[in-house]
Amino acid sequence: MTLIPNQGRWGYCLAGQETQFIHHLDIAIASASGLPFRYLEIGLGDAGTFRSIIAYLRILQIPFEARAVDIPSHPIEIQQSGGNWIVESHNVGSESFLVAAAAEGWQPNFTFIDACHGAPCVTRDFLGVEKIAADNAVVAFHDISPEAQGQHFQPHCQTGINARAAVEQLGLLRDLRPGWETLAETAGTPTSFGCLYVHKI
Ligand SMILES: C[S@@+](CC[C@H](N)C(=O)[O-])C[C@H]1O[C@@H](n2cnc3c(N)ncnc32)[C@H](O)[C@@H]1O
Ligand SMILES: [Zn+2]
Repeated sequence: MTLIPNQGRWGYCLAGQETQFIHHLDIAIASASGLPFRYLEIGLGDAGTFRSIIAYLRILQIPFEARAVDIPSHPIEIQQSGGNWIVESHNVGSESFLVAAAAEGWQPNFTFIDACHGAPCVTRDFLGVEKIAADNAVVAFHDISPEAQGQHFQPHCQTGINARAAVEQLGLLRDLRPGWETLAETAGTPTSFGCLYVHKI
């Protein structure tokens, strides 16, 4: 079993769910049809999760490209590289990022959707990711657990968290969306809300 870096200290409310998150990352790594492995995080925040994922991928010593996107005014920027890995953050907003990634042909093997949690934004982010996701890609959605809904005001959408409505409407919550298989819904912990994991088939 591989050591999980920074366990208990991952960013923004994911603490306590590291094992589940890494388990689904491992599924994406095992089912990726080629390398480098491509990780995408939509909503960088304080980069706690992003940095932990980079550390994990470096432990595995596989070639990888990790990108994160946040809004243009976001204060954190990350650019790092090593022999067979490259890490970049793009503060351009998810919509522009996903259009550019599609034009470039950049196809993520794993995407963590964790930006604005209003239903329109979660839906838009997924539809953008769906266009570019690699074969057998995994997508994780944060804050889909029932107790999270309506919590934490989302300034962009001017609502509370409404990610569950988005994944329900997309047919992802109940395994109804063609081309996608619902893998798992993880319960939250006392300090974090749960995630939904889906797999492109
Ligand atoms: C909950 S935080 C992300 C936490 C991070 N994923 C982690 O686990 O450490 C949400 C972030 O999404 C960003 N965000 C909001 N709207 C966005 C958009 N349209 N595109 C990209 N990022 C966005 C916010 O600025 C904020 O930094
Ligand atoms: Zn929004």
